[in-house]
Amino acid sequence: MSCVAFSPRALLALPKVSPVSSFRHLNRTPQIHGLLFSGRYCPKSTMTTTSAFFKASDDFDQVQASRPDFKRDAEVKFTKPPKPDWKEGDGGNDGGESLNKKHIEIDPYAEGRPVSNNYKLLISGMVPRPIALISTKSKDGKTENLAPFSYAQVINHDPPLFTVGFVGSLEKAKDSLRNLTETGECVINIISEHFVEAANATAVNAPYGVSEWEISGLHQAPSSIVQAARVKESMLSIEGKLVETKEFESRGTPGKKTGVLAIIEGVRFWAREDAIDQETNVIDLKVLKPISRLGGLAYGRTTEAVEIPRPKF
Ligand SMILES: Cc1cc2nc3c(=O)[nH]c(=O)nc-3n(C[C@H](O)[C@H](O)[C@H](O)COP(=O)(O)O)c2cc1C
Repeated sequence: MSCVAFSPRALLALPKVSPVSSFRHLNRTPQIHGLLFSGRYCPKSTMTTTSAFFKASDDFDQVQASRPDFKRDAEVKFTKPPKPDWKEGDGGNDGGESLNKKHIEIDPYAEGRPVSNNYKLLISGMVPRPIALISTKSKDGKTENLAPFSYAQVINHDPPLFTVGFVGSLEKAKDSLRNLTETGECVINIISEHFVEAANATAVNAPYGVSEWEISGLHQAPSSIVQAARVKESMLSIEGKLVETKEFESRGTPGKKTGVLAIIEGVRFWAREDAIDQETNVIDLKVLKPISRLGGLAYGRTTEAVEIPRPKF
């Protein structure tokens, strides 16, 4: 399937049409992120949505201005599942429509395929991902760091274990990873809608020792067990101790270290009082309003949910 390539500047040059209406001209569903950040418009199934190609901030501002306002008061709504009368053996709920679609086999290391394509594919396809907003402190205790990581997940509860994937090597570690390996400590903070811009700001590539706390305007709250502060705005923070790291090497460029997995044990939880029930069991989705990571520059909200009972054999 082919893509229609054009520069973001060309978009501006289109006479008397807004970015959105220019999509109508192409007679396709508007996919603004795909358009702007890759400089090419692709049909939905093959669209690249990474921010890697985004350079023209003026264009982005224009598209952003064309969008509806954020609905701050959008509440989490529970709906019925797509097929409430589904029964064993029924399979998909789309009447078999998806079975008529074809798949494309992709070799992540096919000749001529840049590894960045795997990045774009994975971050846009493995969605939504939780984001660990990680707070760390340097070994000498003099500097602090805060940055978001969406290669992040909880993988066990006894003990509470979390994984975080850091792009790059241990030798040239991102500041968070450097602090984490040097001190063995961090705080994982969950991001909610009410501080999404500030959390995003912490991704700035500031030199080691420059604190993203001031840049973001987020506030520190003391931790109990680890030295690093937790984010006061966060509904759920987890004080963590590093269990181990494992470094990975590129398949395309053997010998080049390209990723580090950190396994972190949660040793203390902090939940905002109004977001957790009396038994300190369940976090209320309606209060948490979690922000997830999607492809490209996109963040996701969770405003609709369905409940389906677990099967019994
Ligand atoms: C939402 C979001 C998620 C990110 N996830 C990751 C990730 O999982 N792994 C990674 O290495 N970088 C990730 N980044 C990029 C880092 O946040 C960025 O490199 C940051 O500057 C690292 O900060 P540090 O050097 O202070 O640790 C992400 C950025 C954003 C905005």
